[in-house]
Amino acid sequence: MVKIKIRLTLFLLIISLLTITGCGKRVVDLEQVSPEEKIVIKFSHVVAENTPKGLAAQRFATLVKERTHGRVEVQVFPNSTLYKDGEEIQALQNGLVQMIAPATSKLSGMYPQWQVLDLPYAFEDVNAVHEAMSGYIGNRLCDSLKQNNMQALAFWDNGFKQMTNSQRPLVNPADFQGLSFRVMINSQVLKKEFERLNARAVEGPFNDLYRVLDSHEVDGQENTMSNIYSKNLYKVQPYLTLSNHGYMGYVVLTNQQFWTGLPEEVRDVLESTLVEVTEWEHEQAFILDKQSLEKIVDSGLVQVHQQTEAEKKLWSIMLKPVYSEFKNLIGNDMIDYLEKMHSQ
Ligand code: LMR
Repeated sequence: MVKIKIRLTLFLLIISLLTITGCGKRVVDLEQVSPEEKIVIKFSHVVAENTPKGLAAQRFATLVKERTHGRVEVQVFPNSTLYKDGEEIQALQNGLVQMIAPATSKLSGMYPQWQVLDLPYAFEDVNAVHEAMSGYIGNRLCDSLKQNNMQALAFWDNGFKQMTNSQRPLVNPADFQGLSFRVMINSQVLKKEFERLNARAVEGPFNDLYRVLDSHEVDGQENTMSNIYSKNLYKVQPYLTLSNHGYMGYVVLTNQQFWTGLPEEVRDVLESTLVEVTEWEHEQAFILDKQSLEKIVDSGLVQVHQQTEAEKKLWSIMLKPVYSEFKNLIGNDMIDYLEKMHSQ
């Protein structure tokens, strides 16, 4: 009996010691990740926080923090606060940031084939964009990135671009005559489109867009509803034509060396979270596009013109030669893919 009592006391003593010294199951203290274990990802982008890209970057950061128990911290820098258009791709390659999500057009300086997504009236709707990007076109485009230490992680939507300007309603192609339009940097296709409409194309970074429009340095621009709303462009652009003439989406990019150097278990969490956030981002893009248009209409500041099918035909006829002009630069195979899609 005495022996049993001694054994029981010893057993209880060992259990208490294990608990006190922490030799049992490791308790993770979320705030106590050691500096050596911590991984910081700087995610730089150029748009406002209340846009599909801004919201998705923030959601990614929040979920990653939760799921890695604080081991990975994604620091989001919106509104070109860290790097602006023309700087962010270089910053990614040099390892100064680890994630960016530029509009696909902005890759065209290094990779002319990305301009396939800038072609006028290339996609009927967002489903056609998703089909192309998850298939032949997406694979072809992403392969090209690897030569320069970049890796595509996801495609995020924004939406279709609409025309705005400060001078007059844009109904027929002749209405563009003599006006100037800001276009996104690096895409020759976008410049050519405005030139075909007898307008002047002025390339410029997104962070300077409001200023050039407000000061009347430039008459108009093309953009998505959420960008027109969140950057207050509608307050200085009283004419809006809903033309859906081009699509604007983003490629979420990382530095390949950084990504492949991550511990596998961390990379797995980041990749699965990104899949989930991408799906959510696509829904947000759809919702924000509608809401932004409603808010712009409600402001009473803008005269909105919905392009008719007949007008679309006229614009298309003017713009169509861009396809053949850029066939060599973009690649016959990709132009053929689009043309086949159009004829179906
Ligand atoms: C623009 O420059 O107009 C857009 O690409 C900004 C963005 O990233 O949506």
